[in-house]
Formats: sequence, C-alpha cells, structure tokens
Amino acid sequence: MSEPEGSGRSSVEPDVQALYRQIELYASELHNLYHEQVATKSALEKKLSEMELLQQQLLAYAHDLATSHRRLQATYLATLHALANAVENRDEETAGHSQRVTRYSLALARALGVPETGIRQVEYGALLHDVGKIGIPDAILRKPGRLTHEEWVQMRRHPDIGHRMLQEIEFLQDALPIVRQHHERFDGKGYPQGLGGKEIALGARIFAVADALDAITSDRPYRQAAPFERAREEILRQRGRQFDPDVVEAFLGVFERLPAIAHGDGATG
Ligand SMILES: [Fe+2]
Repeated sequence: MSEPEGSGRSSVEPDVQALYRQIELYASELHNLYHEQVATKSALEKKLSEMELLQQQLLAYAHDLATSHRRLQATYLATLHALANAVENRDEETAGHSQRVTRYSLALARALGVPETGIRQVEYGALLHDVGKIGIPDAILRKPGRLTHEEWVQMRRHPDIGHRMLQEIEFLQDALPIVRQHHERFDGKGYPQGLGGKEIALGARIFAVADALDAITSDRPYRQAAPFERAREEILRQRGRQFDPDVVEAFLGVFERLPAIAHGDGATG
C-alpha cells in the first residue's frame, strides 16, 4: 500500500526545516555571544590588571607619603628640641628641665585620656613653654639675687613673647595655649591673663603640675633636689588652688612611675 501524495511526511518536513534553521540561528547567535563574552572577559581582565597596577602604585605612593610624614614629624620635633635647648643654655638653672617636664606632661596627658593628636600638642607646648625667655635680657634671666619689681614685670612677659614668636607657625597652633598659659593658676591668681579653672587650656593645666613637680625634684643653684614624696605633698596642698584637681588625681595615679618617667623610661605608659 502506497502513501497518498501530500499527506504525512510532506506536511511535517517544512517544520523540521524551520526548526533546523532556527537552531542554526541560535547556534550562530550563541557563537557570536561566546566571542563577545571572550572579548569582554579579556577586556575585563586587562582592566583588572591595569587596576591592580594602579593599586600597587597608589600603595607605593601612600608608603612614600607616610615615610615623608614621619621624617617631617621627626624634623619638627628635632627643631623644637634644639629651640628648647637654646633657651635652657641661657638659663643654667633649668638644664634638662624642658625634656623632663615634657615627659611628665605626656604621662599626665595619657593618664587623663587625652587623644593622640592632643598628646602631640602637649609635647610641643611643654618643650617650648619658656621659648619667650629668649626675649628677656640676661641681666634679668641670670640675675643671682631677687628681681626688682620692674625686672619681675619684664620677666612675666615671657609667656606672651613666646606666644607671639610661635603664633605664625601652623603646626604649633594647638600648642600655643600651653606657651601662653603655663603660669596661669587654677584659682585665677596666675599670669599673664589671670585665667581661672577650665578657662585655662587642659594642656596648660597639665603642664602646671609637671612644671612644679620638676622644680621641686631638680637641683637648683640655691637648693638641692627634694624627693618625689615632697613634691607629692606640695602638689596635694595646692590642689584646687594652683592646680586643677583632675590633673592632681592623674598625678597621684602615675606617682609610682615618676622616677622612671623622669629618665624617659615610662613616659609613654
Ligand atoms: Fe615660664
């Protein structure tokens, strides 16, 4: 029995051919897509390697910048030490005073929780506190006996002189209050402005305790150094008068470590 013409296979064949063409079309599109993706992938990989190169360069720049910054900080600090030493060399009573008083101030500032940026300014301010003495004549600065009233008036100008000397130096701006206010007293009886309580910058309130501590425990031409215990008694006696009670508390907290701090062994703790 033969199949009738135009029935069965002949009606299916055009669909198969259409499907075949469709599949070929898809295959060709897939092929194109594959090549596009390969091209995209290689373009992405190229971009990625360029970015990695840039990242490496950026890291190298950042490293160089950090190194330069550290060198600059070290140079600043060396300059400040030189300036502090220049002042001390004119005033024999205070050899090594700026370095010790800076170590005490740093220890007190850390005990009070001063943040690291503030710590640096405490360091700069303490080192330079007496830089204005450069403007005081030797006849007054090195006078062995008591100062006359007029001489004392001149001597008391050194905080303002120091402030004026440094006020144009940008990186010392936050250290200026210590220089200007280092002879202020918590009870308002200090100089040059007669500020009281929290009107006095924290750095200067810290410094006042550090300064008294070093004055009492260092040799002076007219008397020998007293023990730390003697300084403790005097500083406690002046709590709320000459000194901020909070700073005195911090002083008591670091008291046991003072001998090590004086020699630079424990100032950072
Ligand atoms: Fe001073």
